[in-house]
Amino acid sequence: MRSRILAPRLPVFGGRLHDARTATAVGRWLGAAFAVCFVTGLVSHYLQHPPPWLADALPARPVWGYRLTQGVHVATGLAAVVLLLVKLWTVYPRLFVWPPVRSVRHALERLSVAVLVAAAVFEVFTGLINNVQWYPWPFGFIQAHFAVAWIAFGSVLLHVAVKAPEIGAHWSRRSAGTAALPARDAADRRSLLLATGGAVGVVTLTTVGQAFTPLAATDLLAPRSPRHGPQGLPVNRSAAAAGVTLRGVTGWRLEVGGPRPYALTLPELRGLPGAAARLPIDCVEGWSVDAHWEGVRVRDLVERAGGRPGRSAARIVSLEARGSYRVMHMGAEYVADPLTLLALTLNGEPLSLDHGHPARIIAPNRPGVLQTKWVHRLEVL
Ligand code: HEM
Repeated sequence: MRSRILAPRLPVFGGRLHDARTATAVGRWLGAAFAVCFVTGLVSHYLQHPPPWLADALPARPVWGYRLTQGVHVATGLAAVVLLLVKLWTVYPRLFVWPPVRSVRHALERLSVAVLVAAAVFEVFTGLINNVQWYPWPFGFIQAHFAVAWIAFGSVLLHVAVKAPEIGAHWSRRSAGTAALPARDAADRRSLLLATGGAVGVVTLTTVGQAFTPLAATDLLAPRSPRHGPQGLPVNRSAAAAGVTLRGVTGWRLEVGGPRPYALTLPELRGLPGAAARLPIDCVEGWSVDAHWEGVRVRDLVERAGGRPGRSAARIVSLEARGSYRVMHMGAEYVADPLTLLALTLNGEPLSLDHGHPARIIAPNRPGVLQTKWVHRLEVL
């Protein structure tokens, strides 16, 4: 009685779709999307920032590994935008329950839901904005997206555990809780779920072509077209952005450090036994494009400096003036792989300045940010 007197005039929801069956049906897909994003996100993170004990064990195969995991990560994250909106629409009337807190247990449960929603919205929103390379915040995207991923995934697990009785009772159309609903609900719910599936299908079909090139023709909404760019390949970081100029690379020499250090001019490098590879640039923002590269095997350069392929790692230093990927660590597996090249040409032409002229790294199963451009120094470790 007392709570009814104190209760403000709250909205009343007559809609029949804001119920546990709809929350479970959409939640199943959202949960699956978050699980896939979490696992593929960890793969991406540890390929880019491995702890020292892992760096030399990271595998250079399969060639298409990072293309697959990061393509799936971005596609699933984009699908999660739709699923999260529908899920929050389904449960938002819960914001208006009165009294807002019934017990300590209930307060804790609501607090965990607040953390879940904040973390889920943060992950999906920052991922989406990162796709278009827009960073309107003062914190580092990678660190924040990675840390909050653990919070989001942990709070999804907690949420599923807390809601397990409702989830069990509404798991399918035939579950005990679902059967008790009025029959006419079924048609409305089917329409909502079909529309949600349709929206996920449209978002996927109009963006997945950025990594899955057989669908390149339907890639209408992805921020980057894999077909556009100098020499048939997009450029994420231009020479101008990296502070590299043609004048700056005049008289360029590759310095190779190690037990037997040496330096090579570009003509000398071109005169070494060459190698070719067809490898994709797989961008962390989700696009991937295959290209034909020619150059010199990194393992040959390392061997000549006294390194031992299979045992030696390398440190690659770029000419760029600033940037978090100016110095890159390359683990022993990548150094030893015969497909890992110091590339001098792209699709049959000398590298353009934006693609890393005079020389750049191209290696299999590796995030694009680690395919260092404007290589200036290679140190055998
Ligand atoms: C990122 C993932 C998710 C988010 C952001 C989310 C969000 C929410 C929110 C805000 C509520 C209302 C909580 C309350 O006030 O008590 C809720 C309820 C619920 N969720 Fe989730 N959820 C997620 C994943 C899931 C998953 C994976 C499932 C099940 C497979 C699920 C099933 C449910 C159920 C059954 C309810 C109760 C609905 C009711 O009693 O009317 N949710 N969810």
